[in-house]
Amino acid sequence: MTNIDIITQMRALIQALKKHNHAYYVLDNPVITDGEYDSLRAKLVELESNFPHLKQPDSPIDDVGGEPLPFFTQITHDIPMLSLGNVFDKDDIANFVRRVNDRLDDKSKNPKFEMELKLDGLAVSLKYVNGIFTQAVTRGDGRVGEDITHNVRTIRNLPLVLPDCVDIELLEVRGEVLMPKAGFAKLNQDSHAKGEKTFANPRNAAAGSLRQLNPNIAKARPLAFYGYSVIQGLPNNIDTQSGAMEFLKHQGFDVSPFKVVANLGQIDEFYQATMSGRDELPFEIDGMVVKVNSLALQEDLGFLSREPRWATAYKFPATTATTRLLDVEWQVGRTGQLTPVGKLDPINVGGVTVSNVTLHNFGEIQRLGVMIGDVVSVHRAGDVIPKVSGVMMDLRDDNVREVSLPTTCPVCASPVVLPEGEALARCTGGFICTAQVQEALKHFVSRRAMDIDGLGSQWLVKFFEMGFIKTVADIYRLSDKVDVLQNLEGLGEKSVANILFAIEKSKATTLPRFIFALGIRGVGESTALNLAQHFGKLDDLQKASVEELLKVVDIGQITAQNIHEFFNNTHNMVIVNDLIALGVHWQAVVKDVGNAPLDNQTWVVTGTLSGMGRDEAKAHLQALGAKVSGSVSAKTTALLAGEKAGSKLDKATELGVRVVGEDEFMAMLAKYGR
Ligand code: IVH
Repeated sequence: MTNIDIITQMRALIQALKKHNHAYYVLDNPVITDGEYDSLRAKLVELESNFPHLKQPDSPIDDVGGEPLPFFTQITHDIPMLSLGNVFDKDDIANFVRRVNDRLDDKSKNPKFEMELKLDGLAVSLKYVNGIFTQAVTRGDGRVGEDITHNVRTIRNLPLVLPDCVDIELLEVRGEVLMPKAGFAKLNQDSHAKGEKTFANPRNAAAGSLRQLNPNIAKARPLAFYGYSVIQGLPNNIDTQSGAMEFLKHQGFDVSPFKVVANLGQIDEFYQATMSGRDELPFEIDGMVVKVNSLALQEDLGFLSREPRWATAYKFPATTATTRLLDVEWQVGRTGQLTPVGKLDPINVGGVTVSNVTLHNFGEIQRLGVMIGDVVSVHRAGDVIPKVSGVMMDLRDDNVREVSLPTTCPVCASPVVLPEGEALARCTGGFICTAQVQEALKHFVSRRAMDIDGLGSQWLVKFFEMGFIKTVADIYRLSDKVDVLQNLEGLGEKSVANILFAIEKSKATTLPRFIFALGIRGVGESTALNLAQHFGKLDDLQKASVEELLKVVDIGQITAQNIHEFFNNTHNMVIVNDLIALGVHWQAVVKDVGNAPLDNQTWVVTGTLSGMGRDEAKAHLQALGAKVSGSVSAKTTALLAGEKAGSKLDKATELGVRVVGEDEFMAMLAKYGR
């Protein structure tokens, strides 16, 4: 890299960081996540430390961040509000502890540390004069902040009078104003329902609430204050940070859990324990803060530039990371859908290396505006499959190229179509596309379909490649090939017997499972059940016209046409008849005749039920005669709503549809003997 290249990169990063600082601090409307911001910042820090002679004079790296808003009274802090350095792993925290020790004289070495949660809110400084709350100021740029006393006064857990502090002329307490997760979810839900702007995260909601001139807005928001330091006026007999926290607690402040630890092992223990319990906390945290516990030693250690030497933030691994999108490959699914899979420059996201990421469909690529060669941010939440959450447009260079939808299938070369207004492109190859056939075979044997658990997809694909299985019906003809199978490498007498036993067992199935296993486009488990209930017999389903199919609950024009086409395709009918001739059978379904308790009713299930899965609840409803639909409409009889019910609940309330909670539902099941 030439100097010009490095400076160009530095300039691009500086400009991006400034723009995002403004969006975050001034507009309260960040366009990228913290992880994305951190990685932009980390890139600039790295360049600056490798090439210090090229460091740009306006680099934002040393800024504490934030410009005071012009319309609030500006207040100069008596003592500047500084920032914390960050560490991200065991080595970093060990270095921090070592650096602390290096600066201490022999008798003070190996000090105790006090650990706190790093609350994800907004730092504020409060003043109490003779025990009376008088002023609250934001951090601003660290030296000058904004007067937000009128808003902070409305925070419900903030003590406005400290009876034990009347003798303290000036007490200055610093801490974090935050919005607890539950309050944030409710606020966004309400705003969404009213068509108002929602907030990206609880911290921005808290910041947005405090940066209001009208205190009634803050008052209506579920804000909370948690104290973490006493800057002026701490009684002389208190000489530790943990003592200061106890003092705050005693005066009626909320403080987050804290702990005094003696060594690196204990630091790590509390860090790990907090990280694993993080989701259960009522508020968001993004790491821990490790502070030297002795206030005298804190004073000895002092500050380096704008960060204390006696404390650091030990951040949790980011769940978002940035990397380059190297290529996009297209995978062909069971019904021919083409799924773009992003090939990434491998990146560690929260402890897991990610090199492939789904881009869902062509529509998603358009929505993201992503191009091959772009730097993208990859987000991973819990066990969820990683996804591309954004594109770093600031870093786009001339080497990017567009992601183009293939015109022919990458597997069978049949034409690809992207129906007007649809996000999913499809291969039109059908049975000649080996990718589609293999996926259809895998679907047929899967647990919720024919449930042939002994026939794993590896062998299934192998048998397909060897020509033993061409269609799903051939699975039931494998028993004719025992001798050949037994001689295959990796398969012996015993495993062949197991596979054949599982196949034999699967012959006794149910009509809904059988319909689902056929893999008709748009026919999931719930639709298969509705079809079975409606028609009772496979014969009647096969003969049904599009008009008749449209009478089945939850079936629209496209699915009705797909079903009709499927059963009018000779190839499909040969396979269905073969399956039955080979012994696949089911018990007759009692057709919906109109005397079950929930006959003629249409139910929708949403949210999380504590006592059973949603599928189980649907099965109960269907067994009681109800139709189960996926969306709420004016025709819906009732909505069964569990915890965290979202838009369906809103819709039901809006339409005046009856909402049934889990308790009522359980009582209803009991009443009908289920
Ligand atoms: S102590 C000299 N303790 O983190 C700075 N800060 O990155 C002393 N924060 O501006 C700060 N929880 O907004 C401290 N338990 C905690 C904290 C905490 C969150 C925030 C605070 C600060 C930022 C520094």
